[in-house]
Amino acid sequence: SDIKQLADELIKTRRLSGEKFEQLLTHRDVVKKEIQQSAKAVTTKSFHRTLYVRGLIEISNYCRNNCFYCGIRRDNDYVSRYRLTKDEILKSVRLGTDMGFKTFVLQGGEDPGLSDAFLMDVLDSIHHINPEAAITLSIGEKDTATLEAYKSHGADRFLLRHETKNRDHYYQLHPETMSLENRLRALSDLKALGYQTGSGIMVGTPGQTYATLAEDLVYLHELQPEMVGIGPFIPAKHTPFENEPAGSVELTLFLLCVLRLMFPKANIPATTSLNTLSKTGRDDAITYACNVYMPNLTPPRHRKDYALYDDKACFKIEAAENLDDLKAIMKGLGREVVMDRGDFHV
Ligand code: 5AD
Repeated sequence: SDIKQLADELIKTRRLSGEKFEQLLTHRDVVKKEIQQSAKAVTTKSFHRTLYVRGLIEISNYCRNNCFYCGIRRDNDYVSRYRLTKDEILKSVRLGTDMGFKTFVLQGGEDPGLSDAFLMDVLDSIHHINPEAAITLSIGEKDTATLEAYKSHGADRFLLRHETKNRDHYYQLHPETMSLENRLRALSDLKALGYQTGSGIMVGTPGQTYATLAEDLVYLHELQPEMVGIGPFIPAKHTPFENEPAGSVELTLFLLCVLRLMFPKANIPATTSLNTLSKTGRDDAITYACNVYMPNLTPPRHRKDYALYDDKACFKIEAAENLDDLKAIMKGLGREVVMDRGDFHV
């Protein structure tokens, strides 16, 4: 059929036009098996049986932004706000280092109380503790000079999901105080500065269509990110979207397979939101497309407060202290957890 031809074109050329992506997503039931098996073959070829782990440290849940979907948005007065001290961050890094982690992800809201000087001092200290470790930042939009400064202090990777490439959709998700242009500017800066750059989207946000998803895929092809993070939207209490339905696990899984076909070597995590919604979804994502897992190294007493959405998983294999359980479960999926930096390589 036409759709089978589109699948073959994607598998061969690693890209499609926007119109064709939209068709493929709309009629994906016909080609799901083929896309999954091809994605699995690509994942295996690129990464053999390995699965990289990243130690996630949620450094602050203060945020100046007011994204309609996000549980830690500025106007959510029900959030108990915290900001880790330097000592707390370094304690998590030491703990992770002792467990063998060689990548740390510092994630936080856009917290005006986290100064650049503070963060650069923290970056220096992390390198002192663990000179081999890669450091990933995930702290929102920063100006060009700031991104350059972090880079010179040893940040080598940065996660910044674009969330949606469609202008109308962007402003259905974010207030006018935010800007799609600035987000895209930051992403192109990251690439130009030589960061391993991660972008991505939520699946199933209000207003998202197969057409906007197709725009996202076309944009990601242009950006050529080294990492891609996607997960289902999950409603969060006390946000404008609290009564909206969650995104589809099935569509998330299909998109992960499409992304693996587009980016054979990209680091693609099985995200916490997918893990929160569905264990089989998580397992399928790892079986077919993902090569990264991000156990939580945040000091346990703060984990429940970093709630981007309801019922966020922060126990079992989401928790870094249960690394042995993660290893056992991954072994059951035919994968070996590797305590390696897991840099992007072409
Ligand atoms: N459901 C799922 N993912 C969410 N994020 C923020 N809020 C939610 C939610 N309610 C995602 C965004 C952000 C990332 C850190 O978490 O895509 O970039």
